[in-house]
Amino acid sequence: SPEVKLAVFGRAGVGKSALVVRFLTRRFIWEYDPTLESTYRHQANIDDEVVTMEILDTAGQEDIQQKEGHMRWGDGFILVYDITDRGSFEEVAPIRTLLEEVKKPKNVPLVLVANKSDLEHIRQVSTEEGERLASEMACAFYECSACADASGGVAEAFHELCREVRRR
Ligand code: GTP
Ligand code: MG
Repeated sequence: SPEVKLAVFGRAGVGKSALVVRFLTRRFIWEYDPTLESTYRHQANIDDEVVTMEILDTAGQEDIQQKEGHMRWGDGFILVYDITDRGSFEEVAPIRTLLEEVKKPKNVPLVLVANKSDLEHIRQVSTEEGERLASEMACAFYECSACADASGGVAEAFHELCREVRRR
């Protein structure tokens, strides 16, 4: 069966690990444990095809050499920001620029995920701003929460990225 390598990027604390754990186990972990770097294998049936995903949960703290290495490794990328952390939103475009440089001349499959939508009362980035950024990057956009029950968007984001990779 086809195998796709997906890497999750975004500033420390945006919820990359929480999203990956939510996707893989449908559970949520509250304690904050900064990631060193972990990979997971997961099989899913997407549009009647069994796809094996290898998912790399990167560390927000990693340096540029590590980032570039992970970008070379991946076929598709989930760029995550936290709606309560404007700085994390501003870090998305530079990650995208670096991706384009590393992957050039290939067109890079990616999806944009706005996490922590359950924290509406302390939101710093509007849904419209997220949508605008996604349209600038010509990618799908998902606003979701790794902890809320209504976290359907999480699986959708991973599946859509697989489709994007398979289309190329
Ligand atoms: P690094 O590994 O350090 O890069 O961070 P990370 O992006 O993996 O963040 P992590 O998943 O560890 O989450 C950071 C903190 O945010 C944890 O305390 C999580 O419980 C919390 N968190 C993650 N996702 C959500 C969410 O959707 N809503 C809320 N309220 N908290 C979240
Ligand atoms: Mg982590």
